[in-house]
Amino acid sequence: MHNLIDGKAIASQIHKETADQVEKLKSRGIHPGLVFVRVGEDPASRAYVGMKEKMAEELGIASRTLVLDSSTSQQQLLDLIDGLNHDSSVHGILVQAPLPSHIDERVVFSMVSPRKDVDGFHPVNVGRLMLGDAECFRPCTPAGVHELLKRSHVPLDGANVVILGRGNIVGKPMASILMQKAPDANATVTVLHSRSRDITSHCLRADIIIAAIGSPHFLKADMVKSGAVIVDVGVNRIEDPSSKRGYRLVGDVDFHLIQPIAGRITPNPGGVGPMTIAMLMHNTARAAHQMH
Ligand code: GUN
Repeated sequence: MHNLIDGKAIASQIHKETADQVEKLKSRGIHPGLVFVRVGEDPASRAYVGMKEKMAEELGIASRTLVLDSSTSQQQLLDLIDGLNHDSSVHGILVQAPLPSHIDERVVFSMVSPRKDVDGFHPVNVGRLMLGDAECFRPCTPAGVHELLKRSHVPLDGANVVILGRGNIVGKPMASILMQKAPDANATVTVLHSRSRDITSHCLRADIIIAAIGSPHFLKADMVKSGAVIVDVGVNRIEDPSSKRGYRLVGDVDFHLIQPIAGRITPNPGGVGPMTIAMLMHNTARAAHQMH
């Protein structure tokens, strides 16, 4: 429909730009390398890493996945990352979350060299993002949402943005990006979460709503102002006996009832997901460029 924000098309534009950059690096003898680290056999993580690896290959980025047993100790994982930090053929390191419960994610993300931190989860990159340093690595999903909005010409300057969710992977960095004093940002950001009151009245004032709260169809039509721009980051598994797998994936947005009143809206799938991968590849090419 006419008001869809086509994440796949915008992502493929970014992939073209990244492929050009990879080509230029290779002509200078630099072969961008990306390593995925996966601990255990979480099915969603397997699928995500598989998709990212395939895309890296298509763009000419050398990638490999190190799969560790779920019983791997935190120290073993830290030692492995230390080795990758010192390996000059590796420009980007991505440790797929979630990690097993005996491993502290924060310690692990802090071990990845900030120069190879294509996920943007190291405290140095988190801090630099907060400070408005355009040169830092930005987490891929919020950076992808920002690119979607920019490339769809959604006005951000002074816009009322509601972010549903305050997680470290999406909500917090998303707020940081959009409230920055910068030409492509300057938004008025409200972050809502599980303890927020008056969620509907906050949402009804929003020009842009970014849903990343991890609750199926959380955002309903009566929470959306006519003409608002809606971005659905959610990936939720719900039971579905009629499906072969026994479940299906739904977003945080009640799409069918909201699409007719929204100004613009992302489909899900086909909205934010492809952008996350596109930003990861972009970050990897940039890591390789900055290291030489
Ligand atoms: N798990 C869910 N999202 C992400 C992500 O963006 N990066 C990593 N490493 N793990 C994730």
